[in-house]
Amino acid sequence: MKRLSLDRGAWLAIFVLALVPAAWLLRDALYSALGPNPVEALSHRTGDWTLRFLMLVLAITPMRVLFGWSWPVRYRRMIGLFAFFYATLHFLTWLVIDEGLLWDAIVEDIYKRPFITVGFLAYLLLIPLAATSSRMAMRRLGRRWKTLHRLVYLVAVLGVIHYLWLVKLDVREPLIYAVILLFLLLVRLWYSMKRGR
Ligand code: HEM
Repeated sequence: MKRLSLDRGAWLAIFVLALVPAAWLLRDALYSALGPNPVEALSHRTGDWTLRFLMLVLAITPMRVLFGWSWPVRYRRMIGLFAFFYATLHFLTWLVIDEGLLWDAIVEDIYKRPFITVGFLAYLLLIPLAATSSRMAMRRLGRRWKTLHRLVYLVAVLGVIHYLWLVKLDVREPLIYAVILLFLLLVRLWYSMKRGR
C-alpha cells in the first residue's frame, strides 16, 4: 500500500516536472517574453525539449545496465509520450505558425530543405510509437511491439542529424547530443552482445 502511493507520488512528480517547459513556454508567449523572434524561439525551445526527452528515454536502459537502477523503467512510457508531446508542439509551430498551413509551401519545404525532410521523417516515425504505447497495444502486438519500438533509436539519430543540418556555424550543441546519443547506443550494443554471449 505504502509502495503504491510512493509510486503514484513519483509518477505525479515526474508528470508535473515534464510539463514545466511547456508551462514556461506558455507563460513567455502570454507575456511576450519570447524575444525578438518569437516563432524562432518557439521552434528552438520545443525542438530542444523533444531531443532532451528522447535522450532521457534512451538513457533508461543504460541507467539499469551501468548503475543497476531499475525504477526509471516504470516511467519510460510517460517520458516517451512527453517526447511525442514536445515533438507535436514543435511540428505544429512549424506547420501552423511558420508555414501558416499553406500546403504548397509545406510540401516545398519538406521536399527542398533537407533538415526539414529529416525532422519530418523523425516525427512520422514517432507517431506509430505513441499510438502503440498502451498496455493493450503491447499485448496485441506481442514480440512485434519490441521490434517496432526499436524505431526510437532511429528517431533520435534523425533528430540529431536534423539539428546538425540546421545549424549554420556553431555546431557545439548538436555535437554534444551526438556524443551523448553515441554513448547511449554503445552501452545498449555492449549489453545486448553480453547477453547474447
Ligand atoms: C523527433 C523530431 C524532431 C526533433 C528531435 C527536432 C529537434 C530540433 C532541434 C533540437 C532544433 C534546434 C533547436 C535550437 O536551435 O535550439 C530544431 C529546430 C527546428 N526544427 Fe526540429 N525537430 C524534430 C522534428 C521537426 C519537424 C517535424 C519539423 C518540421 C517539419 C521541424 C522543424 C524545425 C525548424 C523549422 C527548426 C528551426 C530551424 C531554424 O533555426 O531556422 N523539426 N528541431
